[in-house]
Amino acid sequence: MSDRVYKVVVVGMGKRGKHHAAAFHANPRFEVAGICDIDTARLEAAAADLGNPKIGTDAAALAAEIRPDIFCFATMPNIRYDMIKIGVDNGVKLIARRIMELVRGAGVKTVVSHQHRYGEHYQKVKEIIASGAIGRVQTVYGHATGWMMHMMTHMIDYMSWFNGSYDADWVMGQASGTGKFSDIHASPDYIAGVIQYSNGVRGYVETGAGAPDVPEVDYWWRKCRIGAQGTEGFAETLTGGGWRAVTMDGVFSGPGCMNYDLDMPPYIADMAAWLDDDGAVHPCNIEAAYKGFEMMMGICRSVVSRGQIALPLGDGPAEIDALQGILGGTPALLSMEGNLKEYPNGVMVNG
Ligand SMILES: NC(=O)c1ccc[n+]([C@@H]2O[C@H](COP(=O)([O-])OP(=O)(O)OC[C@H]3O[C@@H](n4cnc5c(N)ncnc54)[C@H](O)[C@@H]3O)[C@@H](O)[C@H]2O)c1
Repeated sequence: MSDRVYKVVVVGMGKRGKHHAAAFHANPRFEVAGICDIDTARLEAAAADLGNPKIGTDAAALAAEIRPDIFCFATMPNIRYDMIKIGVDNGVKLIARRIMELVRGAGVKTVVSHQHRYGEHYQKVKEIIASGAIGRVQTVYGHATGWMMHMMTHMIDYMSWFNGSYDADWVMGQASGTGKFSDIHASPDYIAGVIQYSNGVRGYVETGAGAPDVPEVDYWWRKCRIGAQGTEGFAETLTGGGWRAVTMDGVFSGPGCMNYDLDMPPYIADMAAWLDDDGAVHPCNIEAAYKGFEMMMGICRSVVSRGQIALPLGDGPAEIDALQGILGGTPALLSMEGNLKEYPNGVMVNG
C-alpha cells in the first residue's frame, strides 16, 4: 500500500464540511492543508480541531495557494458549479461534487457523498441480497420523508446497489405540492417514481411529504426504508432503525443507524485507495451516482410530459421549471440544464 499523504482543502465548515474535514484529519493518508468558509467565526472555531491548517474565506485563492490533491466542498447546491470549477482550475486530483461534463472533460475522479451505504445495516442487507438468500430479486424500493433534492438520489443509489448496479431502461413519475420549490434544495413537496431496471427488476421510489412514515424511527431525516423483495423473501434497512429480513433460512434482524462517526472513515479511506490505484474505483463514484441522478430527473420529466421516459436522458424540457408550471408553484431555483450538471449530494473529484 502506498504511504503517500494527499493534501486536502475542505470548503464549507457547516455540518457536512466538518464531518468531511474531521474524517480526513483522522486518517494518516490525508493532510487537511486548508479550510474555507465565508463565515470567519465558523472557520476559526473549526481550525483548532483540524491541526490548525491554513484558513481562508476565498475558496479559489486558497486552492490556488495550496494546490490540493483533493478539493472537497460541502456548501449549498447553488454554488456547486463554481466550486467544481475552482477545483478543476487548480489541478486537484479529487474534489467534492458536481458537473459531469466539467469533471469528465478534466479527467477528474469524482465521489458523490452517498455515504449511508457504509452503515452496517446497509452492508448487511446488501450481503443478504447478493448471497441469493431472498431468491431472485423482483422489486427494490426506497422511500424517505425528506424531500427530493435532499433524499431521492440517496434512495435510488442504494436501490440500484441492492439490485446489482444495473442501469434503468425507463422511468415514470408523478408529483404534487409546490411548497419546497422555493427551498435551496428545490423540489416538489412529494414525488413518486417507477424505475424499470434493465435486468427486469422494478424499482419504486418516493420522497417528501406523502412518502410513508417509518414509525420505528424517531428522527425525521432518518425515516427512510430501502430494500428488496425476492422470490424467497425480503431484506430491508431503515436508515435510523437497523435491518430485517425474511429469507429461505428464517427470520432475521439486526442493529444499525446512520452515524457519521462510523460511516465517514471508510468512505474517506476508499478515496485514498482510488487515488493510489485507478482500478480501486470508489463505491460512491460519480458515474454510478450520475445514473441515479438521471433516473431522478427522468421521473421529473415524466411528471411534466407524462408516460415512460427512456434512459439515458436526451435533450428535453427544463424539468424543474416545467414542474413549476404544471404544479403552479413559485419560480424554481434550478433549470434542467443546471440539474443535469448538478449533484444534489456530496461529490469528490480526481484527475
Ligand atoms: N450526504 C449527506 O448525507 C448529506 C447530509 C446533509 C447535507 N448534505 C449536503 O451537504 C451540503 C451542505 O450541508 P450543511 O448541512 O453542511 O450546510 P451548512 O449550511 O451547515 O454549511 C454550509 C457552509 O458553507 C459555507 N459557505 C457558503 N458559501 C460559501 C462560499 N462561497 N465559500 C466558502 N464557504 C461557503 C457557509 O457559511 C456554511 O458554513 C448541502 O448541499 C446538503 O445537501 C449531504
